[in-house]
Amino acid sequence: MMRHYLAPSILSADFLALGQQIVEAEAAGADWVHIDIIDGHFAPNLTMGPVVVTACRRATQLPLDVHLMVEKPDTFLESFAQAGATSLTVHVEACTHLHRTLTHIRELGCGVGVALNPGTPASSIEPVLHLVDLVLVMSVNPGFSGQEFIPEVLPKVSEIRRKLNKVNPPALIEIDGGITPETLLRSLKAGVQVFVAATSVYGHPDGIAAGVQSLREVFPKK
Ligand code: DX5
Ligand code: ZN
Repeated sequence: MMRHYLAPSILSADFLALGQQIVEAEAAGADWVHIDIIDGHFAPNLTMGPVVVTACRRATQLPLDVHLMVEKPDTFLESFAQAGATSLTVHVEACTHLHRTLTHIRELGCGVGVALNPGTPASSIEPVLHLVDLVLVMSVNPGFSGQEFIPEVLPKVSEIRRKLNKVNPPALIEIDGGITPETLLRSLKAGVQVFVAATSVYGHPDGIAAGVQSLREVFPKK
């Protein structure tokens, strides 16, 4: 069985205490740090840039999972790689030359991710499945945390998992948006390995550790 990973998104963290909050999530059992880069063009909202990735790199040794919701991601790949990103995920909808962009990420020494919006079919990434370490399936429309999970993406997850098993079995599927203990379980059953959560971790009423634990509880016991 493949391992499962929890990737809290700092988009809902307290930015005045970012370092501390990342350390708290790590201590509670976070596996990756998910960093949402939004440029106000590809998706609404303006979030953060490479300087925040540099700062996160000083706070933790965990993988920094950088999700680029930007137009023309090629312009930024090098600066995020230099800032310490472990993996760089670009949207298929934003890439005119997807194959070239993914190859460039590999050359920069980062993990290679490709993301799909809820309305984008699995077939759009079929020709590049052998090139990636990660397929990120958006389960909300990108832009903001705190939106409701779109369950119609689950059959797409299973479809991508089947295709990956044929051409690239070690590649992981990541789901992003509206993850709660309940939607985590449904996604896990559909074939997801990596779970992003902003609100359910950094916005948990009982604190970050309680948020991490409530999601980890759903993972299959080893
Ligand atoms: C959405 C971002 C997500 C988002 C998740 O544009 O890509 O990572 O922050 O937030 P929640 O977990 O609150 O849906
Ligand atoms: Zn994200």
